Amino acid sequence: MKRFLLMLLCVFAALIGANAKQFVNLTPLPKQMIVNEGQYTLPKSYTIGAALLADSLQKEAMRFAEAIQVATGCKGKLTKSKKADIMMIVDASIAHEGYQLSVTTKGISISASTARGFFYAFQSIKKIMPANVMAGLSIKDAQKILPWYKTTKRPEVPCVEIEDEPRFWYRGFMLDCGRHFFTVDEIKQILDAMAIYKMNYFHWHLTEDQGWRFEVKKYPKLTTIGSVASDCRMTDMVKGEHYWLGKPYGPYFYTHEDCKEIVEYARNLHIEVIPEIDMPGHIMAALAAYPEFSCNPEGEHKVQTYQGGVWTDVLNVGDPKAVQFARDVLTEVMDVFPGQYVHIGGDECPTNAWESNAQCQEHLSNLIKEGKVKNLEKHRFRPLQSYFIKQMNDHIKARGRKMILWNESITAGGADLDIIKSTGATIFCWNPCQQGAAIAASMGLDAVITEWGPGCYYINRKQHDGEGEPVAAGTGRKSDQLPAVYAYKPVPDKVTDPAIKKHYIGVQATFWTEHVSDIQYFNYLAFPRFLAVAEAAWTPEEKKDFESLRTRFTADTLLLDLTGRLYGKHFIAK
Ligand code: ACM
Repeated sequence: MKRFLLMLLCVFAALIGANAKQFVNLTPLPKQMIVNEGQYTLPKSYTIGAALLADSLQKEAMRFAEAIQVATGCKGKLTKSKKADIMMIVDASIAHEGYQLSVTTKGISISASTARGFFYAFQSIKKIMPANVMAGLSIKDAQKILPWYKTTKRPEVPCVEIEDEPRFWYRGFMLDCGRHFFTVDEIKQILDAMAIYKMNYFHWHLTEDQGWRFEVKKYPKLTTIGSVASDCRMTDMVKGEHYWLGKPYGPYFYTHEDCKEIVEYARNLHIEVIPEIDMPGHIMAALAAYPEFSCNPEGEHKVQTYQGGVWTDVLNVGDPKAVQFARDVLTEVMDVFPGQYVHIGGDECPTNAWESNAQCQEHLSNLIKEGKVKNLEKHRFRPLQSYFIKQMNDHIKARGRKMILWNESITAGGADLDIIKSTGATIFCWNPCQQGAAIAASMGLDAVITEWGPGCYYINRKQHDGEGEPVAAGTGRKSDQLPAVYAYKPVPDKVTDPAIKKHYIGVQATFWTEHVSDIQYFNYLAFPRFLAVAEAAWTPEEKKDFESLRTRFTADTLLLDLTGRLYGKHFIAK
């Protein structure tokens, strides 16, 4: 009996030994992943079985081969043979963004149905290889950055069997370039990070009270005047304090060529760019340039220098010329940005200026008489915003595009829900986030979750309440910290009705720049919460595991270091 037990123990120990898992550093976690023993070593010269595939799929293979060559020196070439080192198999039964990846000691096989699926498979391969591969650096160049960087001599891919597809088809990231400006190269770095973590929509907040950043040829003063603030509140991350620049900030804006360059760069990473032109509020920079479109053209209008706040100087939606101005701007936006979505803001728009403006008063009473908006006792002027949104939607829809709005369009007191419903807009829900999403879904509108409150997807907020944390939005309370962001459920358990649930189309990490005036402070606040939102976007809820995220983030600090990005160190695994 004793001998039998001992034997059983030995078998058990052998089994555990055989299954002892190697660490595979893949974020977001795939839908299914089995980690096996061993690695596949990429030969110095290897083949990819893609030569018979469509051009778009060959392109993915070529891009992968280029990246591998830079990082490892291994040369890949496409072959028609079915005996390639890396086989690419088109399988129409696999979901649009999904892929299957098999890495054995003998080779790699990828199946997908689209270029995007293959792209994500290649991203996964690069991600589970040594960090210099995803960083796009040779070992030598990596060692110039981190002299102690070491990896195996030969490029190895751990043996895995992966079946993957995202939880949500909308996986977004928003950057506010209105309050502070980020260069084209800096935006490309952010797009690279999005692609590493398989995010697919870049929501580009291009206009604010503090700066108009999109060149509009028909209205040149938008950038000659609207992109320059007389001063600007900056943040010194090292000192952790604000300071005033003490001179004009700008002109800072993106030309049409800049925008097209970003769109193209993003397209190669399977990311769609969503331009946002915020209207009818948050538009002071435009009114500084064209005061005739405000509610008091004779008054003072200036590009706002104070970085936060909600201001009452809003577009005169009762003036047909101002409404046409908004249409004209969107026309140029749609000329430059080819994606399906156009975001027109609609958040935080006080109605005070409309209430005391004769054109708006007359416009409202005409709309009420014509039965086009409701005659409300309270929030009487809010329907003007709903009607303006409808006017913009007619214009956007005529170009075959889809409109996006912030949740105030349906949650602000007096918002005309019938009008908004008729637009079919997608609602970006931030505050009150879940209430906004529930209303949107009940109206048959799609909702994207970008929670501002506890469990915060507003990853510009302070990430910790420890001493010495640089100034940022909020106090770094627990509910804004990484574990809370990771634990947040974008679709609450109580949402079970499939007809409602299908409208929760995705999640977004959002980054406002009131307190963030440079890319390194951006990086510091964004990482690691960026990973937490990316995993919420991709990984099935039941597969998520905070300790695992923490381990993977800790491993990714190498990638972040190699790519010169700062990050918060509060939750690094010991
Ligand atoms: C917002 O945070 N004002 C959308």
